[in-house]
Amino acid sequence: MTILVGGRFSLLKHLLLLSLFTCIDDSEETTPQQVEGKKGDSVTLNCSFTNEVGYILLLIRTKKITFCSEEKCDCHICQTGPCDMTLKDLMFDDASTYTLNVYRNEKSETVLQPVSFTYRLHIRDDISLNAGDNLTLGVLLPEAVEVRHHQHIEHEVLWRKGDKPNKRVTVSDGNLTISNITASDTGTYKVLDHNNKTLITVNLEVNGTKASEHQNSKDEPPTKKEDTGSRIGIWLVIPFGLVFCVILFLILLSKKQSGPVV
Ligand SMILES: *[C@@H]1O[C@H](CO)[C@@H](O)[C@H](O)[C@H]1NC(C)=O
Ligand SMILES: *[C@@H]1O[C@H](CO)[C@@H](O)[C@H](O)[C@H]1NC(C)=O
Ligand SMILES: *[C@@H]1O[C@H](CO)[C@@H](O)[C@H](O)[C@H]1NC(C)=O
Ligand SMILES: *[C@@H]1O[C@H](CO)[C@@H](O)[C@H](O)[C@H]1NC(C)=O
Ligand SMILES: *[C@@H]1O[C@H](CO)[C@@H](O)[C@H](O)[C@H]1NC(C)=O
Ligand SMILES: *[C@@H]1O[C@H](CO)[C@@H](O)[C@H](O)[C@H]1NC(C)=O
Repeated sequence: MTILVGGRFSLLKHLLLLSLFTCIDDSEETTPQQVEGKKGDSVTLNCSFTNEVGYILLLIRTKKITFCSEEKCDCHICQTGPCDMTLKDLMFDDASTYTLNVYRNEKSETVLQPVSFTYRLHIRDDISLNAGDNLTLGVLLPEAVEVRHHQHIEHEVLWRKGDKPNKRVTVSDGNLTISNITASDTGTYKVLDHNNKTLITVNLEVNGTKASEHQNSKDEPPTKKEDTGSRIGIWLVIPFGLVFCVILFLILLSKKQSGPVV
Protein backbone atom coordinates (compact mmCIF):
# COMPACT_ATOMS: atom_id res chain seq x y z
CA MET A 1 0.00 0.00 0.00
CA THR A 2 2.66 2.47 1.13
CA ILE A 3 4.86 1.34 -1.75
CA LEU A 4 2.04 2.08 -4.13
CA VAL A 5 1.55 5.53 -2.63
CA GLY A 6 5.31 6.12 -2.73
CA GLY A 7 5.41 4.90 -6.30
CA ARG A 8 2.60 7.21 -7.29
CA PHE A 9 4.23 10.07 -5.47
CA SER A 10 7.59 9.59 -7.16
CA LEU A 11 5.84 9.25 -10.51
CA LEU A 12 4.09 12.55 -9.84
CA LYS A 13 7.40 14.08 -8.80
CA HIS A 14 9.02 12.86 -11.98
CA LEU A 15 6.22 14.25 -14.07
CA LEU A 16 6.50 17.59 -12.30
CA LEU A 17 10.26 17.69 -12.81
CA LEU A 18 9.82 16.67 -16.43
CA SER A 19 7.26 19.37 -17.10
CA LEU A 20 9.45 21.88 -15.29
CA PHE A 21 12.39 21.01 -17.49
CA THR A 22 10.40 21.05 -20.69
CA CYS A 23 9.05 24.45 -19.62
CA ILE A 24 12.57 25.78 -19.11
CA ASP A 25 13.67 24.33 -22.42
CA ASP A 26 10.71 25.86 -24.20
CA SER A 27 11.23 29.31 -22.74
CA GLU A 28 14.89 29.22 -23.70
CA GLU A 29 13.99 28.22 -27.21
CA THR A 30 11.25 30.76 -27.69
CA THR A 31 12.83 33.86 -26.18
CA PRO A 32 15.75 34.85 -28.36
CA GLN A 33 17.15 38.34 -28.00
CA GLN A 34 15.39 40.72 -30.38
CA VAL A 35 17.78 42.64 -32.58
CA GLU A 36 16.73 45.21 -35.15
CA GLY A 37 18.67 46.84 -37.95
CA LYS A 38 17.95 49.08 -40.90
CA LYS A 39 18.79 47.84 -44.37
CA GLY A 40 22.30 49.06 -45.21
CA ASP A 41 23.29 49.64 -41.57
CA SER A 42 25.22 47.38 -39.20
CA VAL A 43 24.05 45.46 -36.17
CA THR A 44 25.91 43.59 -33.45
CA LEU A 45 24.89 40.32 -31.89
CA ASN A 46 26.27 40.87 -28.40
CA CYS A 47 27.43 37.86 -26.50
CA SER A 48 27.99 38.01 -22.76
CA PHE A 49 30.29 35.05 -22.31
CA THR A 50 32.36 35.58 -19.17
CA ASN A 51 34.89 32.76 -19.53
CA GLU A 52 37.71 32.64 -21.98
CA VAL A 53 36.35 31.78 -25.38
CA GLY A 54 37.60 28.63 -26.99
CA TYR A 55 35.79 28.47 -30.24
CA ILE A 56 32.53 29.71 -31.65
CA LEU A 57 29.94 28.18 -33.90
CA LEU A 58 27.54 30.53 -35.64
CA LEU A 59 24.30 29.14 -37.01
CA ILE A 60 21.54 30.71 -39.06
CA ARG A 61 18.57 28.67 -37.92
CA THR A 62 20.31 25.30 -37.99
CA LYS A 63 22.82 25.96 -40.77
CA LYS A 64 26.43 26.57 -39.81
CA ILE A 65 27.84 29.72 -41.37
CA THR A 66 31.32 31.16 -41.65
CA PHE A 67 32.48 34.48 -40.26
CA CYS A 68 35.83 36.17 -39.94
CA SER A 69 37.48 38.91 -37.95
CA GLU A 70 37.35 42.43 -39.31
CA GLU A 71 41.10 42.84 -39.78
CA LYS A 72 41.45 39.67 -41.77
CA CYS A 73 38.91 40.03 -44.52
CA ASP A 74 36.21 42.13 -46.14
CA CYS A 75 33.48 40.49 -44.13
CA HIS A 76 29.72 40.64 -44.10
CA ILE A 77 29.57 38.79 -40.78
CA CYS A 78 32.53 39.93 -38.68
CA GLN A 79 33.76 38.85 -35.28
CA THR A 80 34.14 42.14 -33.36
CA GLY A 81 34.81 40.97 -29.81
CA PRO A 82 35.64 37.80 -27.91
CA CYS A 83 32.43 36.40 -29.33
CA ASP A 84 30.39 39.37 -30.62
CA MET A 85 29.32 39.22 -34.24
CA THR A 86 28.64 42.30 -36.35
CA LEU A 87 26.59 42.08 -39.52
CA LYS A 88 27.48 44.88 -41.93
CA ASP A 89 25.53 46.38 -44.79
CA LEU A 90 22.36 44.59 -43.76
CA MET A 91 20.15 43.05 -46.42
CA PHE A 92 16.61 41.72 -46.21
CA ASP A 93 18.11 38.22 -46.51
CA ASP A 94 19.83 38.69 -43.15
CA ALA A 95 16.51 38.56 -41.31
CA SER A 96 16.54 35.25 -39.46
CA THR A 97 17.30 33.48 -36.20
CA TYR A 98 20.95 33.31 -35.22
CA THR A 99 22.57 31.04 -32.65
CA LEU A 100 26.01 31.60 -31.21
CA ASN A 101 27.40 28.47 -29.59
CA VAL A 102 30.40 29.44 -27.48
CA TYR A 103 32.76 26.76 -26.16
CA ARG A 104 35.15 27.23 -23.25
CA ASN A 105 38.86 27.24 -23.66
CA GLU A 106 39.82 25.21 -20.62
CA LYS A 107 41.33 21.98 -21.78
CA SER A 108 40.93 20.31 -18.39
CA GLU A 109 37.19 20.50 -18.72
CA THR A 110 35.61 17.94 -20.94
CA VAL A 111 32.37 19.85 -21.07
CA LEU A 112 31.37 19.85 -24.70
CA GLN A 113 28.09 21.58 -23.96
CA PRO A 114 28.38 25.11 -25.36
CA VAL A 115 26.77 28.24 -23.96
CA SER A 116 24.17 29.29 -26.51
CA PHE A 117 22.95 32.76 -27.35
CA THR A 118 20.06 33.18 -29.75
CA TYR A 119 18.98 36.29 -31.59
CA ARG A 120 16.12 37.18 -33.87
CA LEU A 121 17.27 39.73 -36.40
CA HIS A 122 14.53 41.94 -37.76
CA ILE A 123 15.33 44.14 -40.78
CA ARG A 124 13.46 47.31 -41.53
CA ASP A 125 13.58 49.83 -44.34
CA ASP A 126 11.90 53.05 -45.41
CA ILE A 127 11.15 53.47 -49.08
CA SER A 128 9.91 56.54 -50.88
CA LEU A 129 8.55 56.23 -54.42
CA ASN A 130 6.48 58.25 -56.83
CA ALA A 131 3.02 57.23 -57.92
CA GLY A 132 3.27 55.07 -61.05
CA ASP A 133 6.56 53.42 -59.97
CA ASN A 134 6.90 49.72 -59.39
CA LEU A 135 7.59 48.52 -55.87
CA THR A 136 9.99 45.57 -55.87
CA LEU A 137 10.71 43.93 -52.53
CA GLY A 138 13.28 41.12 -52.36
CA VAL A 139 11.68 39.75 -49.24
CA LEU A 140 10.52 36.26 -50.15
CA LEU A 141 13.13 34.51 -48.02
CA PRO A 142 12.95 30.76 -47.42
CA GLU A 143 11.58 31.50 -43.93
CA ALA A 144 8.91 33.90 -45.18
CA VAL A 145 5.39 32.55 -44.91
CA GLU A 146 3.24 35.65 -45.39
CA VAL A 147 3.49 39.24 -46.63
CA ARG A 148 0.97 41.72 -45.29
CA HIS A 149 0.18 45.30 -46.16
CA HIS A 150 -0.83 47.27 -43.05
CA GLN A 151 -2.70 50.52 -43.32
CA HIS A 152 -4.18 52.17 -40.27
CA ILE A 153 -5.42 49.25 -38.18
CA GLU A 154 -6.30 46.96 -41.06
CA HIS A 155 -4.12 44.61 -43.03
CA GLU A 156 -4.37 42.74 -46.30
CA VAL A 157 -2.49 39.54 -47.10
CA LEU A 158 -0.56 40.10 -50.34
CA TRP A 159 1.18 36.77 -50.47
CA ARG A 160 1.07 33.53 -48.55
CA LYS A 161 3.41 30.63 -49.16
CA GLY A 162 1.73 28.01 -51.30
CA ASP A 163 -1.29 30.17 -52.15
CA LYS A 164 -1.99 32.06 -55.37
CA PRO A 165 -0.74 35.62 -54.80
CA ASN A 166 -3.03 38.61 -54.60
CA LYS A 167 -3.82 39.85 -58.13
CA ARG A 168 -2.00 43.15 -57.54
CA VAL A 169 1.23 41.28 -56.95
CA THR A 170 3.71 39.44 -59.13
CA VAL A 171 6.25 37.08 -57.64
CA SER A 172 9.52 36.02 -59.21
CA ASP A 173 12.89 34.91 -57.96
CA GLY A 174 12.41 35.96 -54.37
CA ASN A 175 10.98 39.35 -55.37
CA LEU A 176 7.49 40.55 -54.72
CA THR A 177 6.48 43.33 -57.11
CA ILE A 178 3.52 45.69 -57.08
CA SER A 179 3.31 47.55 -60.38
CA ASN A 180 2.13 51.08 -60.92
CA ILE A 181 1.72 52.00 -57.27
CA THR A 182 -0.74 54.61 -56.08
CA ALA A 183 -1.38 56.50 -52.85
CA SER A 184 -3.37 53.54 -51.55
CA ASP A 185 -0.18 51.47 -51.48
CA THR A 186 1.41 53.62 -48.76
CA GLY A 187 1.74 51.99 -45.39
CA THR A 188 3.71 49.20 -43.82
CA TYR A 189 4.66 45.90 -45.41
CA LYS A 190 5.40 43.08 -43.00
CA VAL A 191 7.00 39.75 -43.80
CA LEU A 192 6.13 37.05 -41.27
CA ASP A 193 7.59 33.65 -40.50
CA HIS A 194 5.70 30.49 -39.53
CA ASN A 195 5.27 31.79 -35.96
CA ASN A 196 3.72 35.04 -37.20
CA LYS A 197 6.89 36.80 -36.05
CA THR A 198 8.02 39.74 -38.18
CA LEU A 199 11.18 39.17 -40.21
CA ILE A 200 11.06 42.35 -42.27
CA THR A 201 9.20 45.66 -42.03
CA VAL A 202 9.11 48.12 -44.92
CA ASN A 203 7.48 51.52 -44.66
CA LEU A 204 6.43 52.86 -48.03
CA GLU A 205 5.67 56.48 -48.76
CA VAL A 206 4.20 57.34 -52.16
CA ASN A 207 4.88 60.92 -53.21
CA GLY A 208 2.60 63.31 -55.00
CA THR A 209 -0.28 62.68 -52.63
CA LYS A 210 0.90 63.56 -49.17
CA ALA A 211 1.48 67.24 -49.98
CA SER A 212 -1.74 68.41 -48.34
CA GLU A 213 -1.01 66.41 -45.18
CA HIS A 214 2.50 67.84 -45.00
CA GLN A 215 1.09 71.35 -45.26
CA ASN A 216 -1.31 70.63 -42.44
CA SER A 217 1.47 69.40 -40.22
CA LYS A 218 3.51 72.50 -41.08
CA ASP A 219 0.61 74.73 -40.09
CA GLU A 220 0.23 73.14 -36.70
CA PRO A 221 3.45 74.07 -34.86
CA PRO A 222 2.95 77.90 -34.87
CA THR A 223 -0.41 77.59 -33.10
CA LYS A 224 1.29 75.38 -30.53
CA LYS A 225 3.98 78.05 -30.06
CA GLU A 226 1.33 80.71 -29.51
CA ASP A 227 -0.25 78.40 -27.00
CA THR A 228 2.94 77.98 -25.02
CA GLY A 229 3.59 81.71 -25.42
CA SER A 230 0.31 82.65 -23.79
CA ARG A 231 0.91 80.03 -21.11
CA ILE A 232 4.28 81.57 -20.28
CA GLY A 233 2.46 84.95 -20.13
CA ILE A 234 0.00 83.56 -17.58
CA TRP A 235 2.77 82.07 -15.47
CA LEU A 236 4.53 85.43 -15.40
CA VAL A 237 1.35 87.38 -14.62
CA ILE A 238 0.22 85.19 -11.71
CA PRO A 239 3.27 85.65 -9.41
CA PHE A 240 3.59 89.36 -10.21
CA GLY A 241 -0.13 89.80 -9.54
CA LEU A 242 0.22 87.98 -6.24
CA VAL A 243 3.20 90.08 -5.16
CA PHE A 244 1.29 93.24 -6.13
CA CYS A 245 -1.75 92.16 -4.08
CA VAL A 246 0.40 91.39 -1.02
CA ILE A 247 2.11 94.80 -1.22
CA LEU A 248 -1.25 96.53 -1.60
CA PHE A 249 -2.61 94.60 1.39
CA LEU A 250 0.41 95.54 3.53
CA ILE A 251 0.10 99.22 2.59
CA LEU A 252 -3.61 99.22 3.45
CA LEU A 253 -2.88 97.41 6.70
CA SER A 254 -0.17 99.88 7.77
CA LYS A 255 -2.49 102.80 6.94
CA LYS A 256 -5.27 101.25 9.03
CA GLN A 257 -2.88 100.66 11.96
CA SER A 258 -1.45 104.18 11.80
CA GLY A 259 -4.97 105.67 11.36
CA PRO A 260 -6.14 105.81 15.04
CA VAL A 261 -2.78 107.22 16.20
CA VAL A 262 -3.08 110.32 13.94
C1 LIG B 1 25.82 45.66 -28.37
O1 LIG B 1 26.76 46.40 -27.60
C2 LIG B 1 27.04 47.68 -28.10
C3 LIG B 1 28.11 48.33 -27.25
O2 LIG B 1 28.52 47.51 -26.22
C4 LIG B 1 25.76 48.51 -28.11
O3 LIG B 1 26.01 49.77 -28.66
C5 LIG B 1 24.71 47.80 -28.93
O4 LIG B 1 23.49 48.50 -28.86
C6 LIG B 1 24.50 46.38 -28.43
N1 LIG B 1 23.59 45.71 -29.34
C7 LIG B 1 22.54 45.02 -28.92
C8 LIG B 1 21.72 44.40 -29.98
O5 LIG B 1 22.26 44.88 -27.75
C1 LIG C 1 9.40 62.05 -51.81
O1 LIG C 1 9.38 63.25 -51.04
C2 LIG C 1 10.38 63.33 -50.05
C3 LIG C 1 10.22 64.62 -49.28
O2 LIG C 1 8.91 65.08 -49.33
C4 LIG C 1 11.77 63.27 -50.68
O3 LIG C 1 12.77 63.27 -49.69
C5 LIG C 1 11.87 61.99 -51.50
O4 LIG C 1 13.11 61.98 -52.20
C6 LIG C 1 10.75 61.91 -52.52
N1 LIG C 1 10.81 60.63 -53.19
C7 LIG C 1 10.84 60.50 -54.49
C8 LIG C 1 10.88 59.12 -55.01
O5 LIG C 1 10.80 61.47 -55.26
C1 LIG D 1 6.71 48.46 -64.09
O1 LIG D 1 6.68 47.11 -64.52
C2 LIG D 1 6.03 46.93 -65.76
C3 LIG D 1 6.01 45.44 -66.04
O2 LIG D 1 5.60 44.73 -64.93
C4 LIG D 1 6.79 47.70 -66.83
O3 LIG D 1 6.09 47.55 -68.07
C5 LIG D 1 6.86 49.16 -66.46
O4 LIG D 1 7.66 49.87 -67.40
C6 LIG D 1 7.47 49.34 -65.08
N1 LIG D 1 7.37 50.72 -64.68
C7 LIG D 1 8.39 51.40 -64.18
C8 LIG D 1 8.12 52.84 -63.80
O5 LIG D 1 9.51 50.91 -64.02
C1 LIG E 1 14.90 40.93 -57.78
O1 LIG E 1 15.36 42.15 -57.24
C2 LIG E 1 16.74 42.37 -57.36
C3 LIG E 1 17.07 43.67 -56.72
O2 LIG E 1 16.06 44.16 -55.93
C4 LIG E 1 17.15 42.35 -58.81
O3 LIG E 1 18.56 42.50 -58.92
C5 LIG E 1 16.72 41.07 -59.45
O4 LIG E 1 17.00 41.11 -60.83
C6 LIG E 1 15.23 40.87 -59.24
N1 LIG E 1 14.81 39.61 -59.83
C7 LIG E 1 13.78 39.51 -60.64
C8 LIG E 1 13.51 38.14 -61.17
O5 LIG E 1 13.08 40.46 -60.90
C1 LIG F 1 -1.38 53.25 -63.42
O1 LIG F 1 -2.51 53.53 -62.57
C2 LIG F 1 -3.21 54.70 -62.94
C3 LIG F 1 -4.27 54.94 -61.88
O2 LIG F 1 -4.81 53.77 -61.42
C4 LIG F 1 -3.79 54.53 -64.34
O3 LIG F 1 -4.46 55.70 -64.72
C5 LIG F 1 -2.64 54.24 -65.30
O4 LIG F 1 -3.16 53.97 -66.60
C6 LIG F 1 -1.83 53.04 -64.83
N1 LIG F 1 -0.66 52.89 -65.69
C7 LIG F 1 -0.25 51.74 -66.14
C8 LIG F 1 0.99 51.76 -66.99
O5 LIG F 1 -0.82 50.69 -65.91
C1 LIG G 1 -1.00 33.72 -37.50
O1 LIG G 1 -2.02 34.71 -37.58
C2 LIG G 1 -3.19 34.26 -38.23
C3 LIG G 1 -4.18 35.40 -38.32
O2 LIG G 1 -3.69 36.60 -37.86
C4 LIG G 1 -3.80 33.10 -37.45
O3 LIG G 1 -4.94 32.61 -38.12
C5 LIG G 1 -2.76 31.98 -37.34
O4 LIG G 1 -3.27 30.95 -36.54
C6 LIG G 1 -1.48 32.51 -36.71
N1 LIG G 1 -0.48 31.47 -36.73
C7 LIG G 1 0.33 31.22 -35.70
C8 LIG G 1 1.33 30.13 -35.87
O5 LIG G 1 0.26 31.87 -34.66
